[in-house]
Amino acid sequence: MPRRILVTSALPYANGAIHLGHLVEYIQTDIWVRFQKMRGHVCWYVCADDTHGTPIMLRADKEGITPEQLIARVHGEHLRDFSGFHVAFDNYYSTHSDETRLHAEDIYARLQAAGLIETRAIEQFYDPVKAMFLPDRFIKGECPKCGAADQYGDNCEACGAAYAPTELKNPYSAVSGTKPEMRQSDHYFFKLSDAKCQAFLGEWTRAGHLQAEAANKMQEWLKPAANDGASEGLTDWDISRDAPYFGFRIPGTADKFFYVWLDAPVGYMGSFQNLADRAGLQFDEYWAADSGAELYHFIGKDILYFHALFWPAMLKFSGRRTPSGVFAHGFLTVDGQKMSKSRGTFITAESYLGQGLDPEWLRYYYAAKLNASMEDIDLNLDDFVARVNSDLVGKYVNIASRCAGFIHKRFGAALTAASSALLADAQAAGAAIAAQYEAREYGKAVREIMALADRANQFVNDHAPWELAKKADGEAELHRVCSEALNLFRLLTIYLKPVLPKLAANAEAFLGVAPLAWADAAALLPGGHRIGEYAHLATRVERKQIDRLVDANKDSLAPAAAPPQPVGEKTAAPAVSAVSTASPASSTPLVSIDEFSRIDLRVARIAKAEHVEGAEKLIRLTLDLGAETRTVFAGIKSAYDPAALTGRLTVMVANLAPRKMKFGVSEGMVLAASGEGPGIFLLSPDSGAQPGMRVK
Ligand code: 2FM
Ligand code: ZN
Repeated sequence: MPRRILVTSALPYANGAIHLGHLVEYIQTDIWVRFQKMRGHVCWYVCADDTHGTPIMLRADKEGITPEQLIARVHGEHLRDFSGFHVAFDNYYSTHSDETRLHAEDIYARLQAAGLIETRAIEQFYDPVKAMFLPDRFIKGECPKCGAADQYGDNCEACGAAYAPTELKNPYSAVSGTKPEMRQSDHYFFKLSDAKCQAFLGEWTRAGHLQAEAANKMQEWLKPAANDGASEGLTDWDISRDAPYFGFRIPGTADKFFYVWLDAPVGYMGSFQNLADRAGLQFDEYWAADSGAELYHFIGKDILYFHALFWPAMLKFSGRRTPSGVFAHGFLTVDGQKMSKSRGTFITAESYLGQGLDPEWLRYYYAAKLNASMEDIDLNLDDFVARVNSDLVGKYVNIASRCAGFIHKRFGAALTAASSALLADAQAAGAAIAAQYEAREYGKAVREIMALADRANQFVNDHAPWELAKKADGEAELHRVCSEALNLFRLLTIYLKPVLPKLAANAEAFLGVAPLAWADAAALLPGGHRIGEYAHLATRVERKQIDRLVDANKDSLAPAAAPPQPVGEKTAAPAVSAVSTASPASSTPLVSIDEFSRIDLRVARIAKAEHVEGAEKLIRLTLDLGAETRTVFAGIKSAYDPAALTGRLTVMVANLAPRKMKFGVSEGMVLAASGEGPGIFLLSPDSGAQPGMRVK
């Protein structure tokens, strides 16, 4: 009986680029969905952009566009990146949609009817200049524990302390720079502390819907606090935000909006509703309380709290079905470290594809590394090169490339019937491989498949068709050996197809077969079957391609550990300080004259300008400041020939902390202007200025 399965990946925020970290999840999910479809199940994969909230509103403001314009642009970029990696959603939608709004309102109304919504006045920081309440991440100040300056409202980057924004010393708004005020406002709460919610979640989190590790974590959160007479585990969840807010207005209110995390998971329903309306599916068959369909959410471990507690409770108490499973994965590290812009390992999907790297290399590598746990996975760049080349090119494709020519040249492209113990073993292995895919143990599946590929290659080596081809009486044996090898290749193609959809499609064309389903492994290609023309199936990856990719993603002058930005991708320092023309100057936060005068700007003479061996964007500048010289690496190579720079005056930041870069230490920064279009324009002082003069 085919199963009916609805699968989701977490909705990416609509204000950041898709990067290799995101792709772990989308590739993991896509492999699982493709596998289910190959098994003949009815499986739908939906996703959407997560479009609401303060960061998106402010980002649009900064760019001088409306939030609607921002999310429309990013939607296009996200779709482009996902399809580039063969992530095949059945629907990729947006939370900023009528479908999502109607479902959010419906859930809210039902929770209200169940007595689970409560209004309470809370005190919160308010930015009087921007006329808005500030989320914790938009309040900065001095750490209450160690005194470090410019720390976010929730934790200190310097000493790691966690605290409430009200504990910050000298707090200021990260949006306008002003001192925030405490103001009161009514907020709406989902009463998770209600006994029936606690009882339900206590049971649900232990009923096998979560990985063991995740289930344990949830028990900690659900546990009543020690010595707490009220014996509440979960506290109520604040689901409203005050205007101005980019989101859905709460029905019956004038200026209250649903918090982005309320409507984000509802976006799963919204996207499916949109698909159902277009494809003639019954929404309720998948979402009604008595639905016989399965529902799975693939997510990162950082958002378990929302998916394993809030979301099931929202569904349950609004009379819907709850998830069959929530599958959390770990984070991506690159060469054993957190992805970093300064190291060039914060690699965007767009740059990977733009540099001409094959998306299936990454799909294969991730699959080889993935399992059902929440452990982090490491993209080791040397191992990536070695494994892709040895497995895909050296093992899998090699079988076909060594045998195809003989079948074409000697046997009119027709196979002879094959049967052997090796083939029977390879067919039988399908059941175990399927079980590994089903359990999300892709690493194990890939190992089993590659063990079969090893045996197939050994078989080809042992029978050496190139020797048989030279023997007068080797004809029948040659035909048999090549036919058997190509049958093995076909079985491997079936097993690898969830991971390598494009390569599999090319292999199907070469084999002259219709799109392969899992059940096709039960039969072999019959005698007389004609194969197609052999075309090159996979290319080797070269280490220098990876080096180029890393270089292209390097923000040369970004600090080694950029401080986290509120949401989405981090904005790292550009290679030169550039004034963007993208947003009006009036939208940047204000600084005091004292803050400005902490920056030591000096007139500098470019004494020497040199190419930097191996750096695509950088020029090494030796700057004369009168009393001293400095070395600065400036990312201005696209705009200036070093020879033309020597001798001219410019302006530099002289008290910027030195930064260690791949090519040496950079001791400052030169100032330049740039806009949306091409071009970088180095600043020059008026004539008469002397090296070392202060700019103020
Ligand atoms: O953490 C994030 O990136 C969120 N945008 C994920 C939302 S998942 C779902 F709830 F919508
Ligand atoms: Zn601190």
